[in-house]
Amino acid sequence: MTSPVNAPVADIEIRLLVEAIFQRYGHDFRDYAFASLKRRVLQAQQRMALPSISALQEKVLHDAEGFAQLLQYLTVPVSEMFRDPSYFLALRRHVVPVLRTYPSLKVWVAGCSTGEEPYSLAILLLEEGLLERTILYATDINHASLEKAGQGIFPLDHMQSFTRNYQRAGGNRSFSEYYTAAYGGALFDKTLRDSITFADHSLATDAVFAETQLVSCRNVLIYFNRALQDRALGLFHGSLARRGFLGLGSKETLDFSAYSDRFEPVSRPDRIYRKLGEGL
Ligand SMILES: C[S@@+](CC[C@H](N)C(=O)[O-])C[C@H]1O[C@@H](n2cnc3c(N)ncnc32)[C@H](O)[C@@H]1O
Repeated sequence: MTSPVNAPVADIEIRLLVEAIFQRYGHDFRDYAFASLKRRVLQAQQRMALPSISALQEKVLHDAEGFAQLLQYLTVPVSEMFRDPSYFLALRRHVVPVLRTYPSLKVWVAGCSTGEEPYSLAILLLEEGLLERTILYATDINHASLEKAGQGIFPLDHMQSFTRNYQRAGGNRSFSEYYTAAYGGALFDKTLRDSITFADHSLATDAVFAETQLVSCRNVLIYFNRALQDRALGLFHGSLARRGFLGLGSKETLDFSAYSDRFEPVSRPDRIYRKLGEGL
């Protein structure tokens, strides 16, 4: 973040905006990577047809609906099923054989957006015969996204690319087995929907979630600064059982973080790591 003295006016306004949001709504964007935060605030200001960031602040302070609108820009609710198929293939190859040895499993998808990532994991676990013994938690700070995720309805025109991803991720059934056309979209199976518990949880302000064997947090840390990345990694480390697994997004890494020596790589290119046991 720019030094407060002689900072560009827009930077000052953004700092004030995120402070206002924190005090009014409890959402904490103060430690998000500034350059991308700024881009998204400016985009919101433009699309919401407001003359300045200060005007945007005025709006969100007085109008919860305006804040809900801004939140859609700040949280980047973009996802796909089996995004980066090689990640899911690596989970099947390197992680599933270990998960198979546990009688019961807890999996946490942090920053699940509209649900594509947890549904992908639910499908993978189902195919590997592990879904029945798994509790799958999926969390996010965006309520609108969580609501959509819970419905399990995705645009029909995404199914072609999701099917391609699924096949590249090692899926060998017909992907269309998992959904039916309903409500103008693809409605995913009740078994899958019921296997996921969606919940509101912030990596910026909340505590360790549950004891888990696998945490998948993809394309979320990229929006955080180093301090907040370390906070989130601390939550994952605290949440993971001994020798639990952590999966990150393709542009994210544990290298250079405060937790780099607390995990070992399982598949470095796929950003899958394993928590080191105590005393190692
Ligand atoms: C780009 S999406 C990634 C979705 C999915 N994980 C994927 O890789 O396709 C980023 C998600 O992180 C969520 N997010 C942002 N800040 C968060 C925070 N402090 N705690 C939890 N989730 C957060 C956003 O709401 C958004 O849904």
